[in-house]
Amino acid sequence: MKNEMDQDIQKILYNEREIKGIMKKLGGEVSRDYAGKNPLLVAVLKGSVVVLADFMRNLSINCEIDFMIVSSYAGTKSKGSITIIQDLRTDICDRDVIIVEDIIDSGITLNSLVELLKQRNPRSLKICTFLDKPSGRQSEISADYVGGTVGNEFIVGYGLDYNEKYRNLPYIGVLKESVYSHN
Ligand code: IMP
Ligand code: MG
Repeated sequence: MKNEMDQDIQKILYNEREIKGIMKKLGGEVSRDYAGKNPLLVAVLKGSVVVLADFMRNLSINCEIDFMIVSSYAGTKSKGSITIIQDLRTDICDRDVIIVEDIIDSGITLNSLVELLKQRNPRSLKICTFLDKPSGRQSEISADYVGGTVGNEFIVGYGLDYNEKYRNLPYIGVLKESVYSHN
């Protein structure tokens, strides 16, 4: 149970049991809404891989998955500029598409991604996010399915990283300040 990253965590926000409950709830909602359909789940790498893996196993309907890698100009106000590093392999025209996110913070990247995917004429396009951080929002975007809400703190685990680390933590936690100051 103990792992060597635990010592860097100040507090746990969602433990494994709570995360399991959230994913079950999200999976249930989406399975109900998409009954008889075959949605394409789109995950933006890398943070969303853990969420996607658990989310899809909580769906009781047919679905397909695909991945994208995008880069955005973080920290600037130049909304709407993302570069596609790796595009989808799937043609989404006439498909029911669900973007699966780890967390929505500023929403800037997601907003641009939605605009981009809309141009490809999907039948429907919705957003499912494990966590929402409304205090960080700089763009008018909201998710259709939200697992949980967090405050204005930097969190790690369950796919979320700090300098590429802690993605493999099975829970969501707040990093100790000492971790930032040492880096
Ligand atoms: P934004 O909504 O465009 O600001 O970016 C969201 C992305 O930033 C997420 O998909 C995460 O990869 C990352 N992110 C946002 N908040 C956090 C956090 O608290 N911890 C770790 N990564 C975060
Ligand atoms: Mg990240």
